[in-house]
Amino acid sequence: MTPSRPLILRICRPLWGLACLLAGGGEYHGTEWWVEGLKSGTDPENPEYWGYPRDNDQRMVEMCPLGFALAVAPVFWDSMSEKERENVETWLGNSINEKNMPNTNWLWFRVFANLGLKKNGGKFSQERLDSDIEHLNTFYRGDGWSNDGPEGIHQMDYYSSSFAIHFLQLLYAKLAGEEDPERAAEFKHRAQQVALDLVHYYDEEGRSIPFGRSVGYRFAMVSFWGALAYADVELPAPLTWGMVKGIVMRHLRWWQTQHAMWNSSGVLSIGYSYPNMYMAENYNSPGSPYWACLAFICLAVPPEHPFWTSEEEDHWSQIPKTKALKHPGHIMSAYAYSVPPGLFTLEQYALASQLGLSDDGGEYWKTRRLSEYSGLEERDGNPVLVSIWKPFPDVTVKTTLVPPTETAPNWHLRIHRIEAGREVMTADGAFAICNENSKDGRYLDLYDAELYEGTSPKIIGNYDLNTPAGWATGKDGAFAVSKGAVGIKALEDSIERSANLVNADPNSNLVENRTTIPTLQHTIKSGESVWYVSAIYAKPPGEGVPRSAYLEGWNSPPEIPAWLKAEISS
Ligand SMILES: *[C@@H]1O[C@H](CO)[C@@H](O)[C@H](O)[C@H]1NC(C)=O
Ligand SMILES: *[C@@H]1O[C@H](CO)[C@@H](O)[C@H](O)[C@H]1NC(C)=O
Repeated sequence: MTPSRPLILRICRPLWGLACLLAGGGEYHGTEWWVEGLKSGTDPENPEYWGYPRDNDQRMVEMCPLGFALAVAPVFWDSMSEKERENVETWLGNSINEKNMPNTNWLWFRVFANLGLKKNGGKFSQERLDSDIEHLNTFYRGDGWSNDGPEGIHQMDYYSSSFAIHFLQLLYAKLAGEEDPERAAEFKHRAQQVALDLVHYYDEEGRSIPFGRSVGYRFAMVSFWGALAYADVELPAPLTWGMVKGIVMRHLRWWQTQHAMWNSSGVLSIGYSYPNMYMAENYNSPGSPYWACLAFICLAVPPEHPFWTSEEEDHWSQIPKTKALKHPGHIMSAYAYSVPPGLFTLEQYALASQLGLSDDGGEYWKTRRLSEYSGLEERDGNPVLVSIWKPFPDVTVKTTLVPPTETAPNWHLRIHRIEAGREVMTADGAFAICNENSKDGRYLDLYDAELYEGTSPKIIGNYDLNTPAGWATGKDGAFAVSKGAVGIKALEDSIERSANLVNADPNSNLVENRTTIPTLQHTIKSGESVWYVSAIYAKPPGEGVPRSAYLEGWNSPPEIPAWLKAEISS
């Protein structure tokens, strides 16, 4: 049944969009194709049959949109003969209820499989449905936040909110609210709390922070907000429906500016802002990006709802500039992360926004994987993120991240206290930024103050580490200006680091396929302990941000805070 796997995704994932449209009273001339697709996919005698899922099977995921569609769009069940309904009951109900499922958000998919059957008077298991929700509730950590997994797991990315848990809690509250008012009320209450944290993920341009797993689901990132309206959650102040609408609409509009994300047939590719096979994960097929259709939950919201009748409003002027998100433990930025496309040298490691260490002269690099400790702490009444990690058994790094302040709004501090039991090279990367100049699309040239474009120091190119023009002192730092500006400076006095531009290998970054990363480099001798105080500059482009403003704050980095001076000298 090899061909059935992509096919099931191509049918079930867009169903999120179609079901939402139908639920909101919309019409689509192709609905019949999906009805037929569902009939064929669940009919063991049909060549397009999807096959029964095994334990922990990807097909279980697709049962969620199917269950939701059955629950909200009567056309599916109504169009089926007795036999076809039995097929659906068997495929959607029996098969999933008897199988093992991963101990994650996936359990919600079984809830929706059962709920869809229940809504149509089909055979389902109330027992399973209840025990799954009870178990999912053990993922709850407080203040609205759930982990994507049981005690001992810490995974709080979009699966905790828009891709799965909050989204599905809200859909459940809407669809099962009458018979299960207590849980519905609890899920809505969680959404109210978490909304005030999640609102920090979305900026003026409509971008959301790209982080965590499965970011190839793209605009699914905004689905939490449409689900708030669908479940008719009472918004916590200062949020208004105009702001919620603004978040959703700006986000959808921003994706429309990412022209390279479609392939030439107009189909969403695997990737983020452009097709990128490095981002493919084990479970991906050509249909998987269509989980993005979760965003269309807003179409299920009736036209008279204030989500639709309000004017779009901004949210960023109404919320604090920085907020410590206690549960996920976040400090956020507009620039996307990079992942290594290979395992030799800095160019392949693409150390965007992270410290790497090498004990073999720069061939292999190690970065953070697990932290021995991580937590939000306070310094002088402000939140900082502290973590302790060991890239090598005899090298300990304590990293402290200090968010931007009112006086230095485009800077954050990344402080590393490193105790090295062996000699290590270090490279501390700012953010990755587009490395194409506007004249001919080649690498950025030395900074041109009239064009407001280029880098400092000069990009010498990979494999040439010996040309002096490619290096600056750590104090002067390195920056790059193209789509906005990013840079890094060393604030510490005790040691001399050097600054250069690392041209990352293509396709290492989510948003830009060719990037450069301003980087500070140094070597720590065996037995030495050092303090690095890196100031990282980031000024993203945006409407109302002229090019002349990109580097505006570069010459005024933040001071080393008094609490840090005290820590360093003690
Ligand atoms: C980068 O993306 C652009 C636009 O999609 C494409 O034309 C170009 O070939 C890509 N370059 C690389 C190195 O992947
Ligand atoms: C675009 O992607 C779809 C899904 O993988 C595929 O069927 C189609 O052939 C692709 N189009 C092109 C021009 O590559």
